[in-house]
Amino acid sequence: MAPIIHVEELRKTYPGGVEAVRGLSFQVEEGEIFGFLGPNGAGKSTTIMMLTTLLRPTSGSMRVVGLDPTVNPFAVRSQIGYVSQDLAVDDALTGRENLWLQGNFYHLSPAENRRRSQELLELVGLADRADDLVETYSGGMRKRLDIACGLMHRPRLLFLDEPTLGLDIQTRRQIWAYLEQMKHQFGMTLFLTTHYMEEADALCDRVAIIDQGQIRAVGRPEELKAAIGGDLVHLRLDGAEAQAKAQAILEALPPVRSVQAADGQLQVVVTNGDDAVVPIIQALAQAGVAPHAITVKKPTLDDVYLAHTGKELRAESGSRDEGMQARMRMRRIRR
Ligand SMILES: Nc1ncnc2c1ncn2[C@@H]1O[C@H](COP(=O)(O)OP(=O)(O)O)[C@@H](O)[C@H]1O
Ligand SMILES: [Mg+2]
Repeated sequence: MAPIIHVEELRKTYPGGVEAVRGLSFQVEEGEIFGFLGPNGAGKSTTIMMLTTLLRPTSGSMRVVGLDPTVNPFAVRSQIGYVSQDLAVDDALTGRENLWLQGNFYHLSPAENRRRSQELLELVGLADRADDLVETYSGGMRKRLDIACGLMHRPRLLFLDEPTLGLDIQTRRQIWAYLEQMKHQFGMTLFLTTHYMEEADALCDRVAIIDQGQIRAVGRPEELKAAIGGDLVHLRLDGAEAQAKAQAILEALPPVRSVQAADGQLQVVVTNGDDAVVPIIQALAQAGVAPHAITVKKPTLDDVYLAHTGKELRAESGSRDEGMQARMRMRRIRR
């Protein structure tokens, strides 16, 4: 079966010269949840806007539901849904009225419109608040309504740009559960962007690691994490001398695959973290080196991101500032 999205050498240079997307090639298979994971400014929204016919690429080729969005934008739009980064629901209407409007926009018959609205309100857990004004909804409820609006015309393929931006972790988990349910219930394909590694890990069948307009790695989260080559042991040591000594000792130990030094820490990749801790501590003790902290962990997508880009994802995400920006945006829309 042909992939539902096929992109080759896609580029976008904005007027003024910002190269937001620099030669992307990837495919999305029907029925999967595919995610773009990358920090702010990586080119995620620019890509999604090109795929959804909202922006013309500078060069490269795209096929979305078998069609070229630059040639057949209306045919593409009839088969896809798009939930933008910013909330699009109208605060002065009720949840049900928002869905009704959306249904009218797609020329649903009144009976069909009513039926789908009710079905979606139940799906996203808003049935009991359906007839309250949206201005009384929480951020998470608005986002769920926004997603429901994107589903009124039963798209085969749903695009979600940062579906949980600025929401608390509990609400995020709830939205992940709804998205998974849609995939299973309707066999829908989902393309989403996020800069939350937990989101990509929990939700996506496959993830593309994106940085500065380029894809650095693509794969299933487990595959990407496994490619790190083992578990991670972090050791904190006092002083450069102790660190260098420890590094030399560890590099000679059988379960150790590699050792990397980074500001006051040694990051050690080992075959199996639980089995490696005791030998590591013993070898260091014999040489008179005493780490003052040692932690063992399985690799996360943050570690994958670091391995492929040389940068930490976490440092740039999850800030208070960003939650604030999301709230400001909601407020602006409410005016
Ligand atoms: N309309 C625009 N005009 C010029 N530059 C833009 C525009 N939109 C985005 N950019 C720039 O393109 C780059 C990628 O942005 P974007 O696609 O929004 O990234 P992301 O969604 O990953 O945060 C950034 O450097 C951003 O400043
Ligand atoms: Mg964006």
